[in-house]
Amino acid sequence: MKYGHFDDNRREYVITNPRTPWPWINYLGNEDFFSLVSNTGGGYSFYKDAKFRRITRYRYNNVPMDSGGKYFYINDGESVWSPGWKPCKTELDSYECRHGMNYTTIKGVKNGVEAEALYFVPLKTWAEVQKLTLRNTTNEVKTLKIFSFVEWCLWNAATDMENFQRNFSTGEVEIEDSVIYHKTEYKERRDHFAYYSVNEPMQGFDTDRETFFGLYNGFDEPQTVLEGAPRNSEAHGWSPIASHYVEVVLQPGESKDLVYVLGYVENAQDDKWESKNIINKTKAKATIARFDTAAKVDAALAELNAYWDNLLNVFTIKTGEEKLDRMVNIWNQYQCMITFCFSRSASFFESGIGRGMGFRDSNQDLVGFVHQIPERARERIIDIASTQFPDGGCYHQYQPLTKKGNNEIGQGFNDDPMWLILGTTAYIKESGDFTILEEPVPFDNEAGSEVSLFHHLTVSFDHVVNNLGPHGLPLSGRADWNDCLNLNCFSNDPNESFQTTENKSEGSQAQSLMIAGLFVVYGRDYVELCKVIGKTEEAARAQQHIDAMVEAIKLNGWDGDWFIRAYDYFGNKIGSKDNEESKIFIESNGWCTMAGIGLEEGMVAKALDSVKERLDCEHGIVLNNPPFTKYYIEYGEISSYPPGYKENAGIFCHNNPWIMIGETVQGRGDRAWEYFRKICPSYTEEISDLHKVEPYVYAQMIAGKDAFKPGEAKNSWLTGTAAWNYYAITQYILGIQPTYNGLRIEPCIAPEWKGFAVTRKFRGATYLIEVKNPNGSMKGVASLTVDGKLIEGNTIPLMPVGGTYKVEVIM
Ligand code: BGC
Ligand code: NOJ
Repeated sequence: MKYGHFDDNRREYVITNPRTPWPWINYLGNEDFFSLVSNTGGGYSFYKDAKFRRITRYRYNNVPMDSGGKYFYINDGESVWSPGWKPCKTELDSYECRHGMNYTTIKGVKNGVEAEALYFVPLKTWAEVQKLTLRNTTNEVKTLKIFSFVEWCLWNAATDMENFQRNFSTGEVEIEDSVIYHKTEYKERRDHFAYYSVNEPMQGFDTDRETFFGLYNGFDEPQTVLEGAPRNSEAHGWSPIASHYVEVVLQPGESKDLVYVLGYVENAQDDKWESKNIINKTKAKATIARFDTAAKVDAALAELNAYWDNLLNVFTIKTGEEKLDRMVNIWNQYQCMITFCFSRSASFFESGIGRGMGFRDSNQDLVGFVHQIPERARERIIDIASTQFPDGGCYHQYQPLTKKGNNEIGQGFNDDPMWLILGTTAYIKESGDFTILEEPVPFDNEAGSEVSLFHHLTVSFDHVVNNLGPHGLPLSGRADWNDCLNLNCFSNDPNESFQTTENKSEGSQAQSLMIAGLFVVYGRDYVELCKVIGKTEEAARAQQHIDAMVEAIKLNGWDGDWFIRAYDYFGNKIGSKDNEESKIFIESNGWCTMAGIGLEEGMVAKALDSVKERLDCEHGIVLNNPPFTKYYIEYGEISSYPPGYKENAGIFCHNNPWIMIGETVQGRGDRAWEYFRKICPSYTEEISDLHKVEPYVYAQMIAGKDAFKPGEAKNSWLTGTAAWNYYAITQYILGIQPTYNGLRIEPCIAPEWKGFAVTRKFRGATYLIEVKNPNGSMKGVASLTVDGKLIEGNTIPLMPVGGTYKVEVIM
């Protein structure tokens, strides 16, 4: 069953039934000011950091789910209703939510009145702008009482949820003209405040939550709205909110726009006050003035749309598969921007207080984003590398506001360092900017410790070399990419977090075949980079370690039909036919086949066939099989999950593309394409009632074949799945690969594909690529011409900047 449809021309998903199986959300803003907004107007805003600078309050785990947001209440004399159906839940005559590229519109129609709320964060603006358009479609005069609503968060989202003995006494607001200012803690240590304005004289307001709602009412029935009159409350402590009251009289056929601005301001220490205790509002007023008419708002939205035209024009495809085209051209790229912005911090599954920017996560996110805005990718790489230590190890995450690393979700994950090589080489291949390698980058943000970024790559590589176990394979440390395979944890205390509890790595034999494969893949990238920049000795040194790793994998990592997953603390195999449960895992088989280990000997094909046989199912490829059915203290969190969920035999969509890419190494385009479609959201739209989460973005996990409800997805939006699937489809299936000196074309497709077209902007030139597959082959380029000229090999050389070139590829 579907709850809406794609509108590809407008790059929107249109939700026509507000009762989606889970809130279907969107993100506003992609620089400093951000909001999450659901299809019924739920959500919240923050500045840069969802934990430390939360602007409006949101209650995760609420009943009902997704209560609280940016609401408009309309009292039309007959009914009290909201354009997004919630929170009033008054039955609407019609409802439509359109989620687009960083904007959302929600339209409700009731009693002949149409109310459409547009939400977006204009470019380069520290504010969310809302335009409420009211239209009278009847023949009578309509008098509408409009109440806006936001609830302020007392800045630190963590303490806001727990320290009530203090919070209930600190709240402060100011009300001036039609603007409500939230200035809690401004007088002491903060230099920032927030505000909410409307571009009409307001006829009343409320800023005290309990006065607005009534102590015994919920979001669905504020007493002031029901009574049709605000109480002009001024918050002192308790829970400050902002609600404007505006009366609108509409003649038959008439319409009216109200513009609301929800903004954030920072003032310099010596410029904080207008007069004693009266905040300096200059900057707020300037922003409000930029959006004080509907025309200005429309112009800002047009600018945002043009900005997205530009971003999405870098890579577009035409394959004849509508569902594929809309993902690659629109939604998958959009999700990559969102994961770039938020890493794993703030979604409807990540509370915004637990996690910041992940070291491994943000590096991987770059492969889906780097072509969009390479300059921002560059800054991100420097920020990430700055949280590394001299031995190549690193903090697992950092807070976006401070950019300082922390150990709050654990440390000592031995896969982390290698991802920096991926992030950096992806950036250079896209941009051609080798100067980044010379950039001075500190360790642990310590001034004076700067070395070149290239040196950071060397210590990343050497971190694996210097941490090998008894089988010549990488020690896993706290965990590898699978942060639930906690081989040195041995936790028996339910109050311990698997992520942060003791890491008994001393004397441990826990080694990871996943890091081993990862090391071979990105180690080779490191070698290639060294050669390109003339560091031949370093290239040769590194190559020896890679060769040794390949040998160690063949010797100690092969189980006969697939690659084992790991060795545990005691040196026992994990993911082997000798194990009672979880005889096979996806990660090591993904990485070792991507690395092509044993390709000639048939190991790649065999491993992939075993994956197909044992891990594949209707909804995708599960992580391990058979699932763990009991707790293994020596394996940790992975065995804490019920079978079929998350890291215990869930379909972890992040690592399905590893197998797709592995299949392309073997040249089996049909298999890669089959796997791609199984988890691709536009292909699961028809089963939205089972799938549950948004059909326009990837979810981290779909319940696997051993789950209670196979096919049900969770954890949408913030997942490496976005970048990895984009990477797999564009670079390995369609095969358009940026390299240091040109665009390599290496498609690996299903034999029934007759061909496809790609427009790719690369290093200042535009390539119109036409791939033809006359003989129904799966892989291999027979000829390649650029503007009719035959080229040796399958790499389009860099063509003069500014030009447009026609490329024809025959498979
Ligand atoms: C989850 C992982 C996640 C980790 C982060 C675990 O409970 O299963 O997917 O990466 O927590 O803290
Ligand atoms: C989610 C985390 O964000 C990521 O870092 C990890 O690799 C996967 N879960 C797998 O455990």
